[in-house]
Order: sequence, then C-alpha cells, then structure tokens
Amino acid sequence: MKRVAICPGTFDPITNGHIDIVQRSLRIFDEVIVAIAENPKKRPLFDIEKRLYLARESLKGMKGVRVESFDGLLVHYVKRVGGTAIVRGLRAVSDFEYELQMALMNRRLDAEIETVFMMPSEEYSFLSSTIIKEVAFYGGSVKGLVPEVVEKALKEVFKKCP
Ligand code: PNS
Repeated sequence: MKRVAICPGTFDPITNGHIDIVQRSLRIFDEVIVAIAENPKKRPLFDIEKRLYLARESLKGMKGVRVESFDGLLVHYVKRVGGTAIVRGLRAVSDFEYELQMALMNRRLDAEIETVFMMPSEEYSFLSSTIIKEVAFYGGSVKGLVPEVVEKALKEVFKKCP
C-alpha cells in the first residue's frame, strides 16, 4: 500500500523550513501532498492562487510531491485523498502546545489518521512565514531562507508599500 503524507499549512509563503520538512517526509512516505489551507480567517498576504504557484515553483522537480489547496476540515481532506498521516514540523517547545491541540482534535475527529512530527534542520528552526514577512516588509534580506521565487514575490508586494 502506498504511504501518502499530507503536509498541511497556510504556506503564506512557503519557506526553506517547509521544504526541509517535505524532503524529510519523502524518506518515510511514498508520496507527499503539500496541502495549502485557504485559511481566509488568517488574512494571508498572498491569495491562494499565489501561494499555490509559489509552492509549486519551489518544489518543482521533486519526485513524489504535489501541491494542492483545500478548504474545510483537514481530516476530511486527508480521507478524500487517501492520506496515511499528517506531517507537521516542530521547531521549538513553543510550537508544542498548538500542535498537540491540533493533533488531538484531529485524532478525535478521525482516529484512523495519525499525526507525525518532524524536526527541521537547525538552520531553519527559527524560521516562520510570519518572521519572513516581517523582515521583508522592513526591507531586510531573506536570501537563503526562502526560495528565490518567494524572495521575488515578497519584494514585489512590499515595494508597493509606502
Ligand atoms: O501553517 P499553519 O497556519 O500553522 O497551518 C494550520 C492548518 C492549516 C494546518 C490548520 O489551521 C488546519 O488544519 N486548518 C483546516 C481546518 C481544520 O481542520 N481545523 C481543525 C484542526 S484541529
């Protein structure tokens, strides 16, 4: 049976930390689906089409990986695509509370779906999409922390800001 990992998130935008987790997932799973939540409540900087584009460009050529968007409950999406497990990156103790809450709620909603946590490389353990956006907003360099296509997209968005 094919083991399919679902890497869900808002990916606003995708970072090298996310890509690191996708690569690690490929060591354990046959296929990885990067599932981008529309998440309008989070008021993302990039709309869903742009987030999909940025993730697809960033992961282009990575065998066994595809990028999709989803709306609604994650467990429903996982079932629909035949996912084996949800994979989430765990950076620091501060992530733990939120991740535990989500993992246990998802288990309550569907006991057949496991959540697997992975540690990113330490060079990315301080990274988040939020901190990337803040640095880019104030004109700082995010080179080496996000794919080039993301770096370019951030420059385009923030050069429009006063
Ligand atoms: O990158 P994020 O913002 O930490 O990802 C959060 C995400 C998208 C995984 C989470 O908000 C989610 O699963 N949203 C879909 C709705 C849902 O299933 N909510 C209940 C989860 S306990």
